[in-house]
Amino acid sequence: MKQTLLIERFGTIALVGGLGFFALSVVIFAVIPVALMKEVKMVTIEEISQHVLPDFRDLAERYPEQFKKYFGEASPKTYAEALRLGRDVYIGEACWHCHSQFIRPVSNEDLRFGRVSYAGEHQTELQMPPLFGTRRVGPDLIREAGRHANDWQAAHLWEPKDVVSTSVMPSFKWFFDKPADPNGVPQPNKRGLALITYLQWLGSWAEPLDPPILPELASAKPAEAAPAKAETKVEAAPARKPQPATTNPYE
Ligand code: HEC
Repeated sequence: MKQTLLIERFGTIALVGGLGFFALSVVIFAVIPVALMKEVKMVTIEEISQHVLPDFRDLAERYPEQFKKYFGEASPKTYAEALRLGRDVYIGEACWHCHSQFIRPVSNEDLRFGRVSYAGEHQTELQMPPLFGTRRVGPDLIREAGRHANDWQAAHLWEPKDVVSTSVMPSFKWFFDKPADPNGVPQPNKRGLALITYLQWLGSWAEPLDPPILPELASAKPAEAAPAKAETKVEAAPARKPQPATTNPYE
């Protein structure tokens, strides 16, 4: 009987092929991306917190007692603490289960949420682990900064239906301290303040829905381009850098 060489056996070919493709996928999905991303600097929380956003100072003025009790003063140090805790709460409460943090280059998502997400904006310590998300029961939050005021965020966390009547988002009442006066307004506690700080930071590097999405609006004055937004915006706007006039980072 003729003997089949080891190299000619089906099992050997399958094994070598399988290992080969496994190795190839490691190169394509791990080695190459890591090599490409090595050039992009990882921004630390300490670096981010050097620029204390006005939203954080606004929290200190809006909820003075709570803020003093939990954070003291609005400084880079307390800002870093709030951002870190806010991110941890966001993960711990599974906000990511319903919210993505990645604007995909499909389905005209940029019309709704702003510029398509790009690598650099996820290369920060606060984005580790990345919270891209795969489910979107609620809207994408990577450009949440300045979209609503701090008190809106607080009211929304207390009871989403109070501000958006059709909302299916659960209420998060444990982010608030019980007021001493039974008729008093509940004030956000440490985790509540931290979460709002984190939400107001998300996308603070980009003006919400700015530059104008439609090219014909690019030449219009800002007031004409977004009249409805003006009064709901937090004061933070001037500190934010304008984005280059493109919505497609691959251009
Ligand atoms: C069961 C799914 C679900 C979970 C869990 C959830 N959300 Fe939502 N969220 C929604 C939906 C739906 C909306 C849109 C309606 C609304 O504004 O309430 C929303 C809206 C929002 C908005 C307003 C977005 C905008 O720009 O108008 C914010 C901010 C938000 N959620 C934050 C959070 C945070 C923080 C958590 C975790 C503590 C969380 N969500 C957990 C479903 C969810």
